[in-house]
Amino acid sequence: MTKCRREGEIMAQDTDRRAAARLLLQLEEWMARYIKSFYNPKDSIQRMILAKEEHTARVRAICRELALFLRLSPEDMALAEIMGLLHDTGRFRQFTIYQTFNDAISEDHAELGLRVIEEAKLLRPLPEEARELVIFAICNHNKKAIAETADPRRLFFARFLRDVDKLDIYRVLEPFLAPSDGSGISPDFLAKFATGEQVDYTMIRTLDDRKLVRLMWIYDVNFAWVLQRIVERGYIDKIIACLPKDEALAAGISRLRSYVAEKCATPDL
Ligand SMILES: [Fe+2]
Repeated sequence: MTKCRREGEIMAQDTDRRAAARLLLQLEEWMARYIKSFYNPKDSIQRMILAKEEHTARVRAICRELALFLRLSPEDMALAEIMGLLHDTGRFRQFTIYQTFNDAISEDHAELGLRVIEEAKLLRPLPEEARELVIFAICNHNKKAIAETADPRRLFFARFLRDVDKLDIYRVLEPFLAPSDGSGISPDFLAKFATGEQVDYTMIRTLDDRKLVRLMWIYDVNFAWVLQRIVERGYIDKIIACLPKDEALAAGISRLRSYVAEKCATPDL
């Protein structure tokens, strides 16, 4: 490689890095203003908006923590934080219009968020590859599975964002965990849990189904660092304690525990 070409590449990398870092600061200000525009005098609505505001801040902070742990480059770290900051942009409009966070009875909040991001031209300052990475990760953060892609960077950031989001969702859901109400777990959910598969969220029929889905998520956590945090905070044990006692479920739980022990012992780096 000629000296001139090398210098050109270094300058291009430097421009990308500065573009992402500068944009992160601008988006932080934009997001704070955007969320405030949804503040509502009605207490029941305001509580939900504030809860999503806190989730947004925490997801962004965990993105930074995980990026540091994985020793991502400064521009990738800024991209990771941008994804965390913007991933739930759609939630604010969703709750204001539909008064629910349930995508199945309103609309997909990731798609909604991406429309807001496009309308406000938020990602325009980024180079195209970076812009597409952010869009792909946000679009796939709430889906049952990540859309097929041959691009390893797209897959990496989609996994990254899904994991970070899950870690904070376990925190959000913890205060709402309650012992089984006797509704029981649907047989098809039990069968999927026993084999470590995911289920279609729209098929949730009971409150116990809903709790089991949170346990199934564990099989979808990609980074040992994230799984270790989930284990340390006791989220898995707390969910299990709130499920009905059932033999078929016990077999699934024992499979899950072995899986967790093995995954946590497998380093990310
Ligand atoms: Fe989300």
